Amino acid sequence: MKYNFDEPINRENTASLKYDIRKEKFGNADVIPMWVADMDFRTPDFIVDSLEKCTENDIFGYFLITKSYYESIINWVKRHHQWNIKQDWISFSPGVVPSLSLSVLAFTKPGDKIIVQPPVYHPFFFVIKDNGRQVVENPLVLNNGRYTIDFNDLENKLKDVKILFLSNPQNPGGTVWRREELKQLGELCLKQNVLVVADEIHSDLVFKPNTFIPLASISDEIADNTITFISSSKTFNMAGLSSSSVIISNKKLKEKFDEVMHTIHVGLGNMFGIAATEAAYTNGDEWLQQLLEYVSGNIDFVENYIKERIPKIRMIRPEGTYLIWLDCRQLNLKGDELNKFFIEKANIGMNDGRTFGTGGEGFMRLNVACQRKIIEKALWNIENAVKYKFHES
Ligand SMILES: Cc1ncc(COP(=O)(O)O)c(C=O)c1O
Repeated sequence: MKYNFDEPINRENTASLKYDIRKEKFGNADVIPMWVADMDFRTPDFIVDSLEKCTENDIFGYFLITKSYYESIINWVKRHHQWNIKQDWISFSPGVVPSLSLSVLAFTKPGDKIIVQPPVYHPFFFVIKDNGRQVVENPLVLNNGRYTIDFNDLENKLKDVKILFLSNPQNPGGTVWRREELKQLGELCLKQNVLVVADEIHSDLVFKPNTFIPLASISDEIADNTITFISSSKTFNMAGLSSSSVIISNKKLKEKFDEVMHTIHVGLGNMFGIAATEAAYTNGDEWLQQLLEYVSGNIDFVENYIKERIPKIRMIRPEGTYLIWLDCRQLNLKGDELNKFFIEKANIGMNDGRTFGTGGEGFMRLNVACQRKIIEKALWNIENAVKYKFHES
């Protein structure tokens, strides 16, 4: 391998959210941090170089987003996801969560209903509630170790809803939605006149033989009723650079979205985020391929370890994302007890499944975008904590 993902990196005291708020979040500054979705891997040189280049001139004044930036996005999406997009479909946004919020403001009124599919990335709920809109739930169904959509329930609930928030690949369940699922969802939303907001931030992080399919690439009709959010932030570990892309082919929807964005003047970009995104999308193919190999090795490792040595926990194998959803219901720990068990008895800070809404109780989300040695230690801790709890030797 050209890139060394085993290289240990000390992130403590670097103002890292994952590491440096452990005391506040878990009550213990020493827990192994396997929670918030960023990676413990070194940012590749081609991205760091692009940031250094921005500092050469010692001037950080207003700047222009160049054509080469848009081309890097267009070419990446085409190369990796076989989706042909155009420059005038793309807007810069400082993040996917801000874009979710902007979509709520642009396409709904206070009191309107927005449908989500829990368990799901928790800010989906916040951007709805914080903007005075109502959440409607179409809970996912766990079917033979894979989360699937309850289409009957969805069809009933779409009737008086304005937007559906789709997470693809799904966080935290790890499902990469298949073509037929996307088609069915897209067509139901079209029929009921419900706009689909597709959060595709994890789209590059998909493991073979699964294939990521952008919802808007399914058909012209579905594209016309979809707005899509992507970012290099998850793929290349640059969330701190606050940069993402909004892709909307429907001219009217794009104008409406951009209009709201202009009212708060956040679409101009920042020099560092733009440069790093262009560098990542232009030079990042090989790094991504090796990252996926390493992370999928981590997932295999967790799967085998749990099967052999912690059978009371069940892993939902992710088809995409570096997040593993652990079914811990057999530990018989209710409410806060489960989260506390992992913090206090195994010394690990994960995301409490309840954070992700309906269906999350009894589950934990484990972030495996870290050195395999850290995972070995974490699993050993869990194995011993579970053995101790059940008095096994
Ligand atoms: C599904 C999903 N959407 C959005 C985000 C965050 O996006 P941003 O940092 O660009 O606001 C995350 C981060 O974990 C995520 O998992």
